[in-house]
Amino acid sequence: MDRIGKLSTTLRPNQFPPAFWVLRSARVQDYQENRFSLPERKKGMMPIFSSDDHRFMRLALKLAARALHACRPNPMVGAVLVCRGSVVGEGFHGRAGGPHAEIEALAAAGAAARGATLYVTLEPCCHHGRTPPCTRALLEAGVVRVVVATRDPNPAVSGGGIAELRQAGLSVDVGLLGTCARRMNDAFAWHTVTGKPFTTLKLAMTLDGKIADSWGRSQWITGSEARGKVHELRSQVDAILIGAGTARQDNPLLTCRHSGWSGSQPRRIILSSRGDLDLELRLLRESPELTWVFVGEEAGREARERLESLGASVVACPADAGGLDLGFVVAKLAELGVQRLLIEGGARVAGDFLEAGLIQRVWFFYAPMLLGSGRSGISGNGEPLSLGRAFGLTRTSVRRIGSDLWVEGFLMDPLDLWER
Ligand SMILES: NC(=O)c1ccc[n+]([C@@H]2O[C@H](COP(=O)([O-])OP(=O)(O)OC[C@H]3O[C@@H](n4cnc5c(N)ncnc54)[C@H](OP(=O)(O)O)[C@@H]3O)[C@@H](O)[C@H]2O)c1
Repeated sequence: MDRIGKLSTTLRPNQFPPAFWVLRSARVQDYQENRFSLPERKKGMMPIFSSDDHRFMRLALKLAARALHACRPNPMVGAVLVCRGSVVGEGFHGRAGGPHAEIEALAAAGAAARGATLYVTLEPCCHHGRTPPCTRALLEAGVVRVVVATRDPNPAVSGGGIAELRQAGLSVDVGLLGTCARRMNDAFAWHTVTGKPFTTLKLAMTLDGKIADSWGRSQWITGSEARGKVHELRSQVDAILIGAGTARQDNPLLTCRHSGWSGSQPRRIILSSRGDLDLELRLLRESPELTWVFVGEEAGREARERLESLGASVVACPADAGGLDLGFVVAKLAELGVQRLLIEGGARVAGDFLEAGLIQRVWFFYAPMLLGSGRSGISGNGEPLSLGRAFGLTRTSVRRIGSDLWVEGFLMDPLDLWER
């Protein structure tokens, strides 16, 4: 049993020391929710899981986490096959279109899968996607019990895999460490249920909420550790979006440059109503094939052709006096295969996306400094909000990164998506 497991057997939830809550809140809450408040439990359907069940499901979750960069747009899934208390096969879903975690574990186990228990972090699929249904493979291999962390939000599965296995006579227990399994697949669930990219707004600010000084300079507000973290986080998204203001002022590259990273680079997106960007921008000169420029109807043919001649893609977008139609932008990005979108500024883009209800999560990095005057992080165009109508954040956490603070919060709880 790990440290959290030990602590929670001796402490009741309201007895955890405050610092412990702040530093480890995400993991402790995962544990608490799994033990005390899963929907299955509310309905009186929560099975009793043994400490071995917990141990093997934790292993399956660790395996699932290995797929972080590889399996998009599919979910991260891990699977462990156990026979008479010993692990006989392990697997994770390492690549979209490749074998699912259950199939990898079955292949590793071979004949030892007969009579085994499968621990899997997501309900086995029961439909023909790019690969045949996992339910059938499990039945053919002679697995007798399946422990599932959470059901699949994909309407093509959504309980169907569990039902099929039960109908075939297998013992199927659902809900073990389900919150952990769901949280690692927030973006997948959002994209599956809404068809839109899961969008995170990242800003680097002073403690008084400024993203740049009065001259527009923002390099650098946060320290090297926080900036390194951002590079790491960039590797987890499909695309990064900025407005023309940031492109002009900062001339960023928006690549993922954390040490050891050799995977693919995110797409870079610029919003520019007129398409009148400086052709020397690094986004247009370095790997321009990764750059998409969304332009309004007012962008002339000449401006578009200039951008395209450099290798960037130009997407025509409806616009009004408020700028480009952001609903169109996110729908188009989803169509182009973007599941995880990161917005990296500036104030106008941040405000417009927020007011349009298109942000699901924020990553705010706060440097321990005050600017007094300077540019505010979010400048909205909409009607002023009273306190009662402010955007509330849920599942907030605070982490220290070097001398800076990293605040994460969600504008909706993606866990709700799995309950539908
Ligand atoms: N600290 C940080 O985290 C951070 C991050 C990024 C930027 N910054 C700072 O922020 C400042 C730039 O802020 P900004 O507000 O000018 O830049 P921005 O939000 O990146 O760009 C705004 C521009 O994007 C274009 N746009 C088109 N349609 C839009 C729409 N629907 N919504 C929003 N924008 C649309 C508009 O330019 P057109 O009229 O040309 O179309 C608009 O003026 C710079 O000083 C930069 O250093 C700081």
